[in-house]
Amino acid sequence: MTQDELFKVLVAHCKEYGFIFPSSEIYDGLAAVYDYGQMGVQLKNNIKNYWWEAMTRLNENIVGIDSAIFMHPRIWEASGHVSAFNDPLIDNKDSKKRYRADVLIEDYLGKIEEKIEKEVAKGRKKFGDSFDEAQFRATNPNVLREKAKWDEVHNRYVAAEKANDFAEYRQIIIDCNIVCPISGTCNWTDVRQFNLMFSTSMGSTADGANLIYLRPETAQGIFVNYLNVQKTGRMKIPFGIAQIGKAFRNEIVARQFIFRMREFEQMEMQFFIKPGTELEWFKKWKETRMKWHVNLGMGAENYRFHDHEKLAHYANAATDIEFNFPFGFKELEGIHSRTNFDLSNHQKFSGKKIEYFDPEENTSYTPYVIETSIGVDRMVLAVLSHSYTVEPLENGEERVVMRIPAPLAPIKVAVMPLVKKDGLPELAQKVVDELKYDFSYQYDEKDSIGKRYRRQDAIGTPFCVTVDHDSLVDGCVTVRERDTMKQERVKIEDLRSMIEKKVSLTNLLRNL
Ligand code: GAP
Repeated sequence: MTQDELFKVLVAHCKEYGFIFPSSEIYDGLAAVYDYGQMGVQLKNNIKNYWWEAMTRLNENIVGIDSAIFMHPRIWEASGHVSAFNDPLIDNKDSKKRYRADVLIEDYLGKIEEKIEKEVAKGRKKFGDSFDEAQFRATNPNVLREKAKWDEVHNRYVAAEKANDFAEYRQIIIDCNIVCPISGTCNWTDVRQFNLMFSTSMGSTADGANLIYLRPETAQGIFVNYLNVQKTGRMKIPFGIAQIGKAFRNEIVARQFIFRMREFEQMEMQFFIKPGTELEWFKKWKETRMKWHVNLGMGAENYRFHDHEKLAHYANAATDIEFNFPFGFKELEGIHSRTNFDLSNHQKFSGKKIEYFDPEENTSYTPYVIETSIGVDRMVLAVLSHSYTVEPLENGEERVVMRIPAPLAPIKVAVMPLVKKDGLPELAQKVVDELKYDFSYQYDEKDSIGKRYRRQDAIGTPFCVTVDHDSLVDGCVTVRERDTMKQERVKIEDLRSMIEKKVSLTNLLRNL
C-alpha cells in the first residue's frame, strides 16, 4: 500500500470507529472542518491533559488561563494580524481554482526530492552491501541534475520569500511549468495577498456593530493578560502562561484531513524572560518540548527540528518540531523567540504600561518571550497515523490494531464475560465497578471473544479482561494485552494496579 492509500484507509478507519467525522456530514460536509466522535474526543482530551499537566504541574512557574475567543479588534492590529496575516494566492484562469503560490512551489520542490530519493533507492538495490550513499549522491548524473534544479528553484524561492516578492513567486511557477492539477494549464493570475482571519460583527447594527475577528491564535489572549496574571499570581520572571483553546483561520489550501483545518485547537505557552537570556531559554524549551514528544514512545526518529531560514523581523530564533506524517515530515509544533514585540505593541496600541519591575536589579523592562505552540489536532493526527497498524495473524487473517500510547488511549480497558449466562455477566459487572472510577472502560458481551478483541484493537484499548467460568471459582480473570496479544491470569483485586502501571498519565509525566 502506498502512503497515500494508507492515509485514505486511516481516514476511513477514523470515521468507522468514532474518532473523527466530517463536519455537517448529512449536509455533505463543510470543507476543512471536522467533528470528534466518542473515541476521538477522549484521545484529544488525553493529549490536552498530558500537555497541560506537563506545563502547569511540572513547572512551578507556569500557570494556565482560558481567555475568550472574541477579543478587542485593536488587538489584531497590534499583533500585526490585520496587516500581515496573509497567504499568497494565485488563481488558475481556466479551472477558476485558487491555490497558495508558496504551496505550489514547495510541492514542486518536494517532487524533485522524491525523484532524488527514488534514484538513490535504485542505486541501493543495484549495488547492495557495497553501496556508498554519499558517493552516489555526489556523483550520479541524474541525482546531480535534479539537485541542481532543486538548488536553483529553492534559492529563488527563499529570496522571493524574504523580499515578499510575489511577482517572482508567479515567475517561478511559470518558469517551472507548474500546472493546475484540474485544468492542466499554466494560465495563472497574479499573486495576491489574502487575509486568513474570519470576521463577524458584535452588537446590533442599530447600536453601530463592531467588526471583530475570531482569534487566529490563542497567544494574544495570553499577552493581553500578562499584567493580570503577573500581578494577581505574584509571578516572578522567568514565568510562563499556558492556554489551550480554539483558533480559526480561513485556510485556502485546507487539506490532508485534520492537518490543516479552518477551526482547530492550539496549546500555547508564552514564557516571559529577561531580555538577553532568550537564546538560552530558546534552547531549553527546544529540548523540553522534544522530550515531551519522544516520551510518548512513538520513535525519536519520527521527529526532527527544522530551523527557520526566514525569521520575522521581531524574532531572533525559530524552529519547528516536525513529525513524520504519512505525507512526509511536516510541522507539528513551533518554538519561537519573539523578543518583546507583542508586549511592546500592546503597550503602544492600548496606552497601558506593560513592564516588569525586577526587584533584584532594581530596573523595569518589557519582558522578552519564548513561545511554544502546538496544534492539538495535528498531535491527534500524529498519534493516529503512527498507531495504525495492520498485522498478519497466525490463522492467516489480519488484525487492525491502533498502537496508541497507552496513557492516551480513549478506552483503557474492556471487560467481557465469556458467555452471557451462568453468572458471568454479573461477575463482569463487579469487575467494572472495581475499575470504573480509575479507567475509561467498555463492557462488551456481544459476539465471539475473537471479534470482541478485534473491536478493541481497532480503537486501541490496551487491555481486555475476560471473565470465564474459572473466575467464579478462583477470583481470577484473563487479561489480554493489546500489542503482544499475550494473556495472563490475574486476581480481580490486582487488576487495578496492573492496568494503572501501563496507562497512567502520572507515570508518563514522571519520565519527563
Ligand atoms: N502563536 C503562534 C502560532 O500560531 P503557527 O505556526 O501559526 O504559530 C502553531 O501555529 C501550531 O498550530 C502549528 O505548529 C500547528 O500545529 C497548528 N496549526 C496552525 N494552523 C493550523 C491549521 N490550519 N489546522 C490545524 N493546526 C494548525
